[in-house]
Amino acid sequence: MIKQEDKERILQATDIVDVVSQFVQLRRRGVNHIGLCPFHNEKTPSFNVNSARGIFKCFGCGEGGDAVTFLMKHEHFTYPEALKWLANRYGIPIEEEQQTPEAIANQSEREALFAANECAQKYFHQTLLNDQNGQAIGLSYFREREINQESIKQWGLGYCKDSWTDFTDYATKQGYSVEMLVKAGLTVEKEGTDKRYDRFRGRVMFPIYSVSGRPIGFTGRILTSDKTKAKYVNSPESLIYSKGKVLFGLHLAKNHIAKEDRCYLVEGNMDAVMMSQQGVKNVVATSGTALTEDQIRLLKRYSSNVTILYDGDAAGIHAAFRAIDMFLSAGLKVKIVLFPDGDDPDSFARKNTQAEFQRYITEEAHDFIIFKTNLLLADAQDDPIKRAALVKEILVSISKIPDTIERTAYIQQCSSLLKMKEDMLTKELAKILRTNILKQHSSEEQQATEQSNTYSPEPFFSTRQQIEDPYPDDNQERGIIKLLLNYSDRSTRQAVIIDEQGTIETQTFMIVAYVISDLKNESIAFDNPIWQGILDIFYQYIQSNNALPDISLFTSSDNETLRKETASLLLEEEKYSISPLWQDKSELKTLDRFNPDVVDDHVKQTLLYLKWHKLEQRQTQILSQLKHTDSQESMQALLGEVKTINSGIQIIRKELHNIAK
Ligand code: UTP
Ligand code: MN
Repeated sequence: MIKQEDKERILQATDIVDVVSQFVQLRRRGVNHIGLCPFHNEKTPSFNVNSARGIFKCFGCGEGGDAVTFLMKHEHFTYPEALKWLANRYGIPIEEEQQTPEAIANQSEREALFAANECAQKYFHQTLLNDQNGQAIGLSYFREREINQESIKQWGLGYCKDSWTDFTDYATKQGYSVEMLVKAGLTVEKEGTDKRYDRFRGRVMFPIYSVSGRPIGFTGRILTSDKTKAKYVNSPESLIYSKGKVLFGLHLAKNHIAKEDRCYLVEGNMDAVMMSQQGVKNVVATSGTALTEDQIRLLKRYSSNVTILYDGDAAGIHAAFRAIDMFLSAGLKVKIVLFPDGDDPDSFARKNTQAEFQRYITEEAHDFIIFKTNLLLADAQDDPIKRAALVKEILVSISKIPDTIERTAYIQQCSSLLKMKEDMLTKELAKILRTNILKQHSSEEQQATEQSNTYSPEPFFSTRQQIEDPYPDDNQERGIIKLLLNYSDRSTRQAVIIDEQGTIETQTFMIVAYVISDLKNESIAFDNPIWQGILDIFYQYIQSNNALPDISLFTSSDNETLRKETASLLLEEEKYSISPLWQDKSELKTLDRFNPDVVDDHVKQTLLYLKWHKLEQRQTQILSQLKHTDSQESMQALLGEVKTINSGIQIIRKELHNIAK
């Protein structure tokens, strides 16, 4: 843990233009620096860096945040890793906070495991390249499989000699305890004896790396076709390695995946190495495990487009079906390439030239729905029962897609592929969705009761999707938040009523404090949970610290939505309206934020627009309630409220006119 004071010192010393310049070529334009976005492919720069505010924002892909989030995204650091990088760059000494003895023990065990794996990786690699035995056996095996020298270097491939304890002996001489080697899974100890041997003896070695590129485990391939022995042996799970949580090759592929905005997913390590050698660098392998949610989450950090490259045999197709539904549920777009039966990406890549291979994986990449339909259609033929099952099967996949609009598009495609009526498919889909929701609901309810005692700090950022119900006051609410963020350090002079007689006096307030207390006084709540969430964070911070928060509280938040939205709001050009009819875009003027009178008016206006809108929204609500009420009494009450609202709106209009003058 890095201490809070150190954290602040680091952030203060940080110059975002300097940080980003380490990775992206920037040039000045106006108050910002601009360059080509490192997070997506682009030809004209839409990546903005603002030095004064310490933030970056890409208007092409939406990525944004501060220097810390930039490093986390670009270098795939964790939060503390990013801070340490900055501390190092700006020469800020950091003092790690006292940890519990247990945490220290855990930490040192992790470090020891990393060290053991690193030692093993270097040793196996050296053996392969320089040892006579390694060259004769390991290196010639890789040659035979057409893995070139560059790939061997890049992937750090190696060889573990076929002697019982060659590696264990070496490592213990280097000072590693047998206990640690066993924990790392490099050495196997026969229970109850002192007999021990190298787990990977006689195998060529594929190191498995963490996302940041440290070796955390291995997969070793046998060289013979001895059917009595496992073809591949993996490191056992340890504190630093869990097979369902890593993707083989991600450390090399991550930036390519982000740049190409696509990830190729294969099953075998050899497939990944060969494809990368054939110029497809955005490739990772599941290494023979069934795809997990954790792996999907990892991938999703870099791109939301996946192409699955599996064998064309029954097992491959089955695995592809499973993976498709998992990717769809996670909101990713998925394509599938099948290789001719008997081929896998590795063998197919070797049989073809780079260009042919790359053409194949682009041209043969089918949208999941076409892939499923074609396969299932071929199977169902004209059997009506099988056909019905097939339709259901496809609709189930479609039902996994979280986005309504996308689902509709797939229904249309499905209807033309299967030659079935669209509305019938829609009805069927609705049934499946209903069942899904019911299922989800009951499991959520169960979870809710299980966790009823845990405090949830960010209630407004649930994944609640409300596509069909946009927030009617979104623009106005957004305007308020934009004001709070952009003027978090500025004050405003506003007229307030100071006593019961209604005496009005002008007083100076911090803008944030003024706006928030005004909203609280009038009990105004926001529709859009994102904006309400930001408001709450402001409010809670002020309550507990009796001070205003720094905007880095938002721009370096680990909540992605929060980070991106706040970066947008901070970098947009500021326009304000000089007309009370703010819908008229031609009346927008660039805001002069250094003129205090202009800023005071802007604060007033922003609040008034919001209130006007809220009143109109309430009016619409009442009108619809009026339609459904028969009781004379409640009708009178509602009409009375309409009247009050109307006069409220009149007052607001007048005030806005006064400002405009
Ligand atoms: P495959 O059997 O498809 O092997 O297993 P492959 O990748 O084509 O390997 P080559 O071409 O024969 O050398 C796919 C992946 O499943 C894991 C490995 O990670 C392998 O790359 N696997 C396979 C195991 O972990 N253990 C095994 O016994 C077999
Ligand atoms: Mn293979």
